[in-house]
Amino acid sequence: MIVVATSNEHKLREIRDILNGGTGHRPVRTCQLSVIENGKTFEENAIKKAKAACKKTDQIAIADDSGLEVKCLNGKPGVKSARFAKPHLLCQKLLRVMKNCSDRSAQFVCVIAIAYPSGKIKIVKGICKGKIIHEMRGTNGFGYDPVFVPKGYKKTFAQMSATMKNRLSHRGKALRKLKSTLADAE
Ligand code: IMP
Repeated sequence: MIVVATSNEHKLREIRDILNGGTGHRPVRTCQLSVIENGKTFEENAIKKAKAACKKTDQIAIADDSGLEVKCLNGKPGVKSARFAKPHLLCQKLLRVMKNCSDRSAQFVCVIAIAYPSGKIKIVKGICKGKIIHEMRGTNGFGYDPVFVPKGYKKTFAQMSATMKNRLSHRGKALRKLKSTLADAE
C-alpha cells in the first residue's frame, strides 16, 4: 500500500495507471492534507506534502509537485503554475501573456518525493520538453494540456489519449522512476 498526497483527480488517475500496472503492482490510497505549498522549488513542496502524509498515516507516502516552465517568461509560471489563474483560465492567461513571445519553448516538470516512516526521503524527477502553441486544442487532461505540444509531436497533451500522455509526460517519466525506486530496497 502506498499513500498519495493529492486531491487532484487527474493526477491520481495518472499515478494509479502507472503504479497499479505490471509486476510492481502497488495499491494506492489517497490522503487529504492541508499543507500550504509555499516552497520556492518543486522539491521543497513535494517533500513537505509527502512528509505530512507519511506522518499522518505512518505509511510510505508520495507527493508530487509539478508545473510548467516557459522559456520566454524566465521559467514562469513554475512553482506557481496552479495559482497563475483560476483553473479554467490557465491556458487563456498563458496565451495572453505570451502574445509577443516568438520562442515558445517550455517544459513540464514533475518532482515526486517519497517519505518513509523511518524519516528517509527520496526524490525522483521527470521533465517533458515541448512548446506552447498559439491556441487551445483538445479536451482531455487538465491544466495547460490544451496548449502544450511535446517535442517531436503535433498533438497537444489534451488531444492525446491518457496512455499516450503517460508515455511522454513529466509525471509519467517521474512515476516510472518512482516505480523502480520503490522496487529497490526500502
Ligand atoms: P501542483 O503540482 O498541484 O502544485 O499543480 C501544478 C499545476 O501545474 C497544475 O495545477 C497544472 O496547472 C499544472 N500542471 C502540472 N502537471 C500538468 C499536466 O500534466 N498537464 C497540464 N498542467 C499541468
